[in-house]
Amino acid sequence: MSGGAAEVGAGLLDNPLLAGIVGALLLVVLVAGFVIIRRPSLLDYLKGRKGNVNHSATAVDEDEDAGKPKIAILFGTQTGTAERFSKQLKSDLQARYGKGNAISVVDMEEYSGPDNLADEKLVFFMVATYGDGEPTDNAADFYGWLLKAAAEAERGGGEQFLKGVTFGIFGLGNKQYEHFCMVGKRMQKAMIALGAEPIVRRGDGDDDEDIEADFDKWREELMTALDASEGLFAKGEATEGAAIPEVTAVQAYDVVPASGPETKLVSGSGVTAATPYLASVHVVRELHSEKSDRSCIHVELDIRGSAITYEAGDHVGVLPENGPEAVARAAELLGVPLDYAFSLTKPSGESDLPSPFAGPITLKTALARHADLLSPISKQSVAAFAAFAESDDKERLLDILTGNGGANYKEWHGTSKCLLELMEEFPNVKPPLGAFFGSIAPRLQVRFYSISSSPKQNPGHLHITCAVVNEKVATGRLHEGVASFFLKRAAVGTPVPVFVRRSTFRLPKDTTTPVVMVGPGTGLAPFRGFLQERAALIDAGAKLGPAFLFFGCRKASHDYIYKEELESYLLSGALTELHVAFSRDGPSKEYVQHHLEKRTADVGKLLSDEQGGFFYVCGDAKHMAKDVHRTLANVLQTTCNYSSADAEAHVKRLGETGRYQKDVW
Ligand SMILES: Cc1cc2nc3c(=O)[nH]c(=O)nc-3n(C[C@H](O)[C@H](O)[C@H](O)COP(=O)(O)OP(=O)(O)OC[C@H]3O[C@@H](n4cnc5c(N)ncnc54)[C@H](O)[C@@H]3O)c2cc1C
Ligand SMILES: NC(=O)c1ccc[n+]([C@@H]2O[C@H](COP(=O)([O-])OP(=O)(O)OC[C@H]3O[C@@H](n4cnc5c(N)ncnc54)[C@H](OP(=O)(O)O)[C@@H]3O)[C@@H](O)[C@H]2O)c1
Ligand SMILES: Cc1cc2nc3c(=O)[nH]c(=O)nc-3n(C[C@H](O)[C@H](O)[C@H](O)COP(=O)(O)O)c2cc1C
Repeated sequence: MSGGAAEVGAGLLDNPLLAGIVGALLLVVLVAGFVIIRRPSLLDYLKGRKGNVNHSATAVDEDEDAGKPKIAILFGTQTGTAERFSKQLKSDLQARYGKGNAISVVDMEEYSGPDNLADEKLVFFMVATYGDGEPTDNAADFYGWLLKAAAEAERGGGEQFLKGVTFGIFGLGNKQYEHFCMVGKRMQKAMIALGAEPIVRRGDGDDDEDIEADFDKWREELMTALDASEGLFAKGEATEGAAIPEVTAVQAYDVVPASGPETKLVSGSGVTAATPYLASVHVVRELHSEKSDRSCIHVELDIRGSAITYEAGDHVGVLPENGPEAVARAAELLGVPLDYAFSLTKPSGESDLPSPFAGPITLKTALARHADLLSPISKQSVAAFAAFAESDDKERLLDILTGNGGANYKEWHGTSKCLLELMEEFPNVKPPLGAFFGSIAPRLQVRFYSISSSPKQNPGHLHITCAVVNEKVATGRLHEGVASFFLKRAAVGTPVPVFVRRSTFRLPKDTTTPVVMVGPGTGLAPFRGFLQERAALIDAGAKLGPAFLFFGCRKASHDYIYKEELESYLLSGALTELHVAFSRDGPSKEYVQHHLEKRTADVGKLLSDEQGGFFYVCGDAKHMAKDVHRTLANVLQTTCNYSSADAEAHVKRLGETGRYQKDVW
């Protein structure tokens, strides 16, 4: 999706689907259908693809790169880190070995397919893991195809068609999640099963600690391996500044001043990230009581007239805007008036810059919609910023970046400074806008929300239940969550760019199947949609199975959100049992899993193979979902008289058969 997410802003104004390309792709699919292929599931792969640019790593820069060894760096990203690392790897390889190799960085969604993979000599994957050990949206098709092909090869039914391909994988993840770097791990196994050979150990980057350091270490090992390799790579002279190539080679858009009015946002279909729909805010309401010192808001968006359809359990992507104070301060520090209007264009020649966002645009709008000013800044951004520093500032920035063998940067970055704080710290450094938007400020990312309504009860509307982030970060700054504050501030009628992302989080098809739902805090969101769905089914005369809900919050009088609604579902029969754990009302913490334990016998019965019940969990992945997982295994162990291994196997089976579903973040 990076593609997706990173270029969403540009996509607001233009629809990149080219009929000719789609036509060509369809033709390929049709032809492939008549060819008997030994490479498993090529057709599946092509079928799964959307109307993307048919971009193979081996097809770029053909003229300039003719005769050079070709290297592909493929990235699977949601929020841009894997893409950034891919570009950094390319720039490092060029800095170390000169420009004697044709290196292309390719979005996995735009990679033209399995045939090319077999033709690559050297290929790298930078892949992030999300959800419950899942690939990113932009890597999903490729990943599915690769794993399927590998499984067939392992069963002996498929060819090891990647023999002769050398590869390296850097996985991006976070150790707090249960399935740490699962995508990188599985891809490594699959590549080997298909005959490819790793050139370096797999890298596992942990963004809970220091993912940049993990990447640096992996790159060093990779360079050592490449130095020792024969024939894979043209090894020319190192270029100057190889230690921090970004400082010497900052990519910048060309900035064209504009005099006309700013281009207005237009509404897309809302069906993809590249074509968001401008939904109008219908309601914004506080859900916590006045006693609470936190905020959680209920937002209703009007999607009437759009092509958007959704089902309870789907996600909505929101393209937020930075708040006015951050925008004004950033413009001041850049030394450019807020109403300065311009367009960005890509410079001629080789560039890894994404398509620029559409213009003419004022600096105010560009900073609000497109620049990530407040997230922890990356080393690459600091290095690009340093390229515009002079005298003392330059020395100080270079010392931060490279001093003490990297220890200075670690210390400086220890508090996760954001771009705005970097600009505050070096107010004399005023990068030009082309470099600022090209290399310094990452693109502001989409935020996802579990839709908290059912279209059966709210046709034309879509609800969000959003915990408002308002917390002191390590630098001492009070951080107002970009998207949650954007929604909280939104007046009725404000247009909010949104799109719907399909999920597999669904009620059972058979309405009589029992369901057990566990969702503390905002984890309640999709279950509110499920309950609305069940209430609509009751109205339509359907027979429903039992439904248990385990909700948790701090205090009954503070943050028991949607209390009246939940109680009304008990009366209507949409809900059979409601269990609420108040974690801060009593002498000791009470959590959802404690209530689940108390209902062991009944929950175990509902989830038995005889009753075939479904178990759902939504909300915090790092702690809650793991604890609930353990409790679920204990419940099954007790009720089914299992060993702990058998209980785990049963839980795994529930997951594999879709009877244990997670929507966790
Ligand atoms: C599939 C999915 C479903 C989701 N569903 C929901 C839902 O239904 N309801 C809901 O409320 N949320 C949901 N989320 C979370 C949601 O997408 C957002 O992450 C959340 O609203 C916070 O976004 P924000 O822009 O307001 O906060 P951000 O500005 O992105 O901040 C988020 C966090 O990063 C920290 N942070 C940011 N900048 C810094 C810095 N410089 N230094 C240190 N720390 C920093 C903040 O302190 C905060 O903890 C979901 C997420 C996913 C992936
Ligand atoms: N992965 C993430 O980064 C992530 C995920 C979800 C939410 N959040 C953030 O957290 C904030 C509030 O979120 P929220 O309103 O959804 O939930 P919340 O109000 O923080 O928590 C809901 C309830 O869950 C309890 N809880 C805490 N740890 C638990 C555990 N291990 N098992 C079971 N229950 C547990 C809490 O108790 P106590 O607080 O009393 O311990 C509270 O009673 C928001 O800022 C949100 O963005 C972050
Ligand atoms: C909602 C969410 C779910 C995640 N799930 C996992 C996971 O299951 N396993 C893991 O190792 N990392 C997980 N991560 C961490 C990301 O993989 C990590 O932040 C990575 O650096 C993101 O890379 P990207 O910016 O290229 O998308 C998750 C992060 C988020 C925000």
